[in-house]
Amino acid sequence: MLAQAASLLNINVVILDVGANAPAKQVVSPRSPGLAHIDGSFADSAKIRELAAKVDVLTVEIEHVDAGVLQDVERAVPLGVHPSPSTIRVIQDKCVQKQHLAAHGCPVSTFMEVEATAASVTSAAENLGLPLMLKSRTLAYDGRGNYVLRETTQVQEAIAALGGRPLYAEKWVPFVKEIAVMVVRSAAGDVASYPVVETVQRDNICHLVFAPLRSGDATIAARAREVAEASVKTLAGAGVFGVEMFLMHDGSVFINEIAPRPHNSGHYTIEACETSQYENHLRAILSLPLGSTALKVPSVAMVNLLGASDDMSEINAVVAHALSVPGAAVHLYGKSECRKGRKMGHITVVATSDAERSLRIRSLLEHLPTPSS
Ligand code: ADP
Ligand code: NA
Ligand code: MG
Repeated sequence: MLAQAASLLNINVVILDVGANAPAKQVVSPRSPGLAHIDGSFADSAKIRELAAKVDVLTVEIEHVDAGVLQDVERAVPLGVHPSPSTIRVIQDKCVQKQHLAAHGCPVSTFMEVEATAASVTSAAENLGLPLMLKSRTLAYDGRGNYVLRETTQVQEAIAALGGRPLYAEKWVPFVKEIAVMVVRSAAGDVASYPVVETVQRDNICHLVFAPLRSGDATIAARAREVAEASVKTLAGAGVFGVEMFLMHDGSVFINEIAPRPHNSGHYTIEACETSQYENHLRAILSLPLGSTALKVPSVAMVNLLGASDDMSEINAVVAHALSVPGAAVHLYGKSECRKGRKMGHITVVATSDAERSLRIRSLLEHLPTPSS
């Protein structure tokens, strides 16, 4: 989606990913032989150096990268690396990220470091109560890396499930809603935020996004945007950041986590905002003027197309239905294989009212494949 936005602005993109048919490479062809895409892993330091040597600005779409290599190449890339490798380093360890946010006065719920031992996890459960959210500090995404400890008898199982990785623990947050705000930060340090969205996760994975946030109290959205903007200001570097938050019963918010990149909860901006999160990411890292973040439709929803099995025809069935739904825009990512829980694409539905939006997405939801457990 970033490549699509770049293409419309004649911005040349060189992509590092495995295989000649990686999804982003399907979207943009190299404009000259010198700008050929690179075949390799974004975890391979030699490949990252090869990419850095070819570009004016380097950006990443995943935080699980080698921040050290990015730091090494930073000075050799004329417009730098965004988000800043120092920001990636803070964010890629969720416990360090929470410590950073707390130290800068951003609202986060209670958390503590734990060792991956039964004694340490048990003591965290005694301290923070049950249920306890046990999380991998690193390499976590789509809920892979979280374990909800309901009883202390599950401690061994939890440690085994999280694969012996470095862990930390969070107090369980009894939120009323999960919300998110996309924030764009220019190279000069100015920030602008998108409207607050409500996100609905199923099995820890983002399932639905609704915008704008509806609540009886209009100050909630304004406050959430302030908190999100303030949190992004504590992080170095330009680009788009996705700030995931918990909305509490009393209207207060806690930051759950920050993604230093365009985010699933911002996909709706492609059809529903004056400038998409992708275009604004490009504008930010290229020192172009930021675009308006305003909604241009009254109501929007996004539904993720998650594989229910390895059968892509289940996804194709929803897509076929979506083609008959007014206001629905299908995005399929061109991934070579469908797998259970894998994000294969998404559908955005715009509408003139929330009521119309509900009608439009209801039938889509009825056609979604149901994951077998
Ligand atoms: P991921 O990196 O996989 O997105 P998150 O830390 O965002 O992991 O957790 C995934 C989901 O788990 C959240 O969106 C939320 O629904 C739930 N969750 C995370 N932390 C807590 C918590 N402390 N209390 C209650 N629910 C939580
Ligand atoms: Na995450
Ligand atoms: Mg998350």
